[in-house]
Amino acid sequence: MAKAKSVYSCTECGGQVLQWQGQCPHCQAWNTLVETIAEAGPAGANRYGRIAEAGKPQRLSEVEAREEHRMPSGLEEFDRVLGGGLVPGSVVLIGGEPGIGKSTLLLQSLAEVGRSRRVLYVTGEESLQQIALRAKRLGVDAGGVIILADTSLQRIESVIRSEKPEVAVIDSIQTLYFDELQSAPGSVAQVRECAARLTRLAKAAGATMVLIGHVTKEGAIAGPRVLEHMVDTVLYFDGDPHSRYRLIRAFKNRYGAVNELGVFAMEERGLKGVSNPSALFLSQHGSDVAGSCVMVTQEGTRPMLVEIQALVDAARAPNPRRLSVGLEQARLALLLAVLHRHAGIACFDQDVFVNAVGGVKIDEPAADLAVLLAIVSSLKNAPLPGKLVVFGEVGLAGEVRPVQRGQERLREAAKLGFTHALIPHANKPRQAIAGLEVIAVRRVDEAVVKVRDLVSK
Ligand code: TYD
Ligand code: MG
Repeated sequence: MAKAKSVYSCTECGGQVLQWQGQCPHCQAWNTLVETIAEAGPAGANRYGRIAEAGKPQRLSEVEAREEHRMPSGLEEFDRVLGGGLVPGSVVLIGGEPGIGKSTLLLQSLAEVGRSRRVLYVTGEESLQQIALRAKRLGVDAGGVIILADTSLQRIESVIRSEKPEVAVIDSIQTLYFDELQSAPGSVAQVRECAARLTRLAKAAGATMVLIGHVTKEGAIAGPRVLEHMVDTVLYFDGDPHSRYRLIRAFKNRYGAVNELGVFAMEERGLKGVSNPSALFLSQHGSDVAGSCVMVTQEGTRPMLVEIQALVDAARAPNPRRLSVGLEQARLALLLAVLHRHAGIACFDQDVFVNAVGGVKIDEPAADLAVLLAIVSSLKNAPLPGKLVVFGEVGLAGEVRPVQRGQERLREAAKLGFTHALIPHANKPRQAIAGLEVIAVRRVDEAVVKVRDLVSK
């Protein structure tokens, strides 16, 4: 077979050149030229193999919408983030920092699926002995799993064609190479080309393909991000690597809801699902402490209680520090401005630190009100009542805006023994919730006053 020609194309303007250079001659952008395979025939035709039947236009009503059947992955929490299980012919990308537990998760899952189906585990990072040792340590029966230690894309493709697995795991996509490209394994060109070919193969063979990808702290350039648009489902591991809990978040899912969350605990013998994680992110204080406020966050279909901590301390430097961990950094400055303008509480000369306990990342604005009250509590050195939960979005005009699924959040709080809830007025439930006193507020200053009244009661 003739060797395919490779060309360098610009990621900015799409212009092509035959040799790599630092600057694109078409648009003058720097460092944007990436090696790709030159296609014979119309440019880019079916390169990513996403369109199964090209050509004939059809009415949408004539297209049969089959409910795809799903394979259980063997781990309930994994099924939850996948949207109910693995879908044949789909491609799942799992990203995460090194050592977070990607290989462990997939080996555990394959061992389960492998009891009744053909499954293949391709490793480019570890030896077969290491995998066998891990399986032994996990105490799983991985006898049904076919393993292959290889990094050549062509050889892996031919093994997939001959073995016909229903599920194939590639650990990791950054170790594979396609020998018609000169770039090193792990480069954008290699990662993209390998993933594109595996995607095509998955669709053609009706196999589920799981690609493992490393993300580094800096968000390395050839990381999983360059693949997000090609695959059907993107899952990321997050959570603090130093805690034993591991969270898997769906970032994109063509077969289910995003923002779904799977919670695992890393134990002696691998990852164990945590089916009731709602109280995981509360720290246990002996008595009420200042600067702590519990909020209810909604992750996918599941409410969770998370403690927000704030520390406000006199600043030593002319420009005080604002730092947030697990919450949006930019939002902190915004909330402090709202607090000053609309509630008359100033933090100009104070360092302000906020943290979501347990290494969770909260990216919904429902945390706003809890962050504000934790800050006020720390500033005034006045603890909030221990059995109070808070949620609500705060607007620039000082209004407290409603959040989604208020009812569910309140019910979860009541279930865990909370007795008071401070929430947006628009979220006020029509029927009372047993054991929970609801305090509904419309504005930030009103919230501050209501909490003060509650404390002094
Ligand atoms: P691993 O799956 O190799 O991570 P990744 O593939 O994402 O790089 O997991 C590595 C970590 O998990 C390692 O630091 C040890 C820990 N671990 C356990 O705590 N218990 C176990 O049973 C296993 C297999 C790993
Ligand atoms: Mg690994």
